[in-house]
Amino acid sequence: MDRANFEQEIARIRNSRKYRALNLPEDILQEMLTAEVALGGNKAEITQRFRKKLHNVIASYLDEIDYAQETKQMKAFFQANPTNEQVKAWALSVMQKHASTRERLPNIAAFCQVLRAYIGTPHRILDLACALDPLLLPWLALPSETEFFAYDIHQPRIEFLNTFFTFLYPSAHAIQQDILVNPPTQSAECAFFFKEAHRFEKRAPGCNRAFFQALRVNLIAVSLPTEDLRGHHSLVSYHTQLIYTAIAGLPWELKQIQVGNELLFFIHKP
Ligand SMILES: C[S@@+](CC[C@H](N)C(=O)[O-])C[C@H]1O[C@@H](n2cnc3c(N)ncnc32)[C@H](O)[C@@H]1O
Repeated sequence: MDRANFEQEIARIRNSRKYRALNLPEDILQEMLTAEVALGGNKAEITQRFRKKLHNVIASYLDEIDYAQETKQMKAFFQANPTNEQVKAWALSVMQKHASTRERLPNIAAFCQVLRAYIGTPHRILDLACALDPLLLPWLALPSETEFFAYDIHQPRIEFLNTFFTFLYPSAHAIQQDILVNPPTQSAECAFFFKEAHRFEKRAPGCNRAFFQALRVNLIAVSLPTEDLRGHHSLVSYHTQLIYTAIAGLPWELKQIQVGNELLFFIHKP
């Protein structure tokens, strides 16, 4: 595939009906297409593999949320000075619309309780590949000065989260960034990396180890689902193995717990 075809394919994806609204960072597309070019094949084979991979990495968790509309409704909601309970009910209604947060809702209180018990009260948290995780903040009940940096590649979601933060979390920020190509360089006591390590593995087999090593944090809270999205197969041993392999031979401590349909791994880096 020559340079002109490469640029053409990137432009085609960015302007496609499926991905246009996400305004995906250029680097994620460049990196994924470069990886496929390196595997070889003719132009048709490369683009077919690239599109399939992109679908697995990005499209399988696209939600139906109209973020502009949702932001408008959120602004009206917060103008009425809602109580904490009303904020939780609103957050639940939004999380209900996204597949991976929806799966967590039956156990949301237990999940946040376990998480908070492990992380304590850090000064700064990084939420990596966040999707709608920041809507868990009302359950985590962290002090308002806790800095919270949430990363995702989906621009409309990032804008929605930043508007949400202006109402309740002045020390929180959402950032559009491909965290695999550019892992955050900020140091923090703690990073959340929920329900994404298995998809990272699909994008670049074995990449989680270097990714965990690059993070300048003391504790990485990783979660992975116990079952596939349709609930047909148990993924417990496969996902447990994924984490053990990622940290094998490193002097890090690992604690593991299951909350509902989610496996939580607490990786302590000295
Ligand atoms: C399966 S969802 C998980 C989200 C959330 N952490 C949860 O537990 O519900 C994956 C999210 O990661 C984002 N994502 C995927 N690859 C990413 C990358 N390389 N950098 C940043 N965000 C990414 C997607 O846009 C999507 O919002």
